[in-house]
Amino acid sequence: MLKTTIQLISLSWLLTCLACFQQKPAKKYTVGFSQCCKDDWRTVMENEMLRELDFYPAVALKKKVAVGNSQQQIAQIKELVAEGIDILIVAPNETEPLTEIIETVYQEGIPVILVDRETASNQYTTYVGASNYEIGRTAGHYIASQTDKTGKIIELALPQSMTPGVGRRNGFEDAIKQYPNLEVIAFFDASWSLDKVDVWLPDVLDQHPEANIIYGHTDVVAERAYQVIRKKGKANQFFYLGIDGLAGKGGGIQMVEDGRINASLLYPTGGTESIKAAMQILNNLPIEKRIELNTTVIDPDNARIINRQMEKVLNLQENIGQQKNLISELEQFYQNQQVLIYILIGSL
Ligand code: FRU
Repeated sequence: MLKTTIQLISLSWLLTCLACFQQKPAKKYTVGFSQCCKDDWRTVMENEMLRELDFYPAVALKKKVAVGNSQQQIAQIKELVAEGIDILIVAPNETEPLTEIIETVYQEGIPVILVDRETASNQYTTYVGASNYEIGRTAGHYIASQTDKTGKIIELALPQSMTPGVGRRNGFEDAIKQYPNLEVIAFFDASWSLDKVDVWLPDVLDQHPEANIIYGHTDVVAERAYQVIRKKGKANQFFYLGIDGLAGKGGGIQMVEDGRINASLLYPTGGTESIKAAMQILNNLPIEKRIELNTTVIDPDNARIINRQMEKVLNLQENIGQQKNLISELEQFYQNQQVLIYILIGSL
């Protein structure tokens, strides 16, 4: 009888130990992330977030991507809230359509971090991103400094239904007001479809043979203009400025290095900073209403060095990822050993 009881106790003790060692640590918080769209710049943002999240194993990320469709994004935010999130990070596709749902989430007591794009309301916890107005202003002054303060500009803008489109336009306008010989002669809401640039720009070039500056609200659109103008045999007549300054293959820094655009203004994605902000809020630490990120001009003098440095940083980050995997494997191995030891002790 005693022997059986001891055996039963040992067995239940053994099973409890096994259960303990097999359990993964429970996630304490869930960060909901509503991403407006899908492109290379967004991928960089998401990778930054994932890398930063590596430091917080108790935090889970739930992401939903609306492919440039505001109604879809509204539905996805509702889904995230229904599924249960502790905080919402959101890059609103457009200003007006997303305002109401984001206000509702905030009023329900879920902290809201706006990243990159803003709403028409101040009902959010914090905004993370560069000032698009300042970027527009910097673009205007930079163009003036590179073109003898004289020129006819074609502006290829982001849609005016989103805050970066408005900020980049207004800041630029305010800057070039100070240069009487700099003038925007054609304005195009370009980004819904780059293909539209191929149709629109050739006619504008015919109507304005004096045009000599491209101000693109993104590098991608500035480079598209370069391709169109090159086909017309006028590539060297123009100065091309874009925004984003993404590192790596196909990014704006590479475009500057290759001479397809003359310069780009860095527009940081805010991926890392938005996760940092989320952790600050979840830990009840004070946070500012705006976390402004800095920009910088990328031109042929620094493009190469910045690209190489970014490559190095990416390699280091990949190394960190590999080391993290290795540590997980070792932890698993250690756990298996523990289990084995318990089995041995139990059977003894
Ligand atoms: C990417 C993008 C960037 C731009 C940002 C503005 O989706 O269009 O090119 O800088 O969004 O919100």
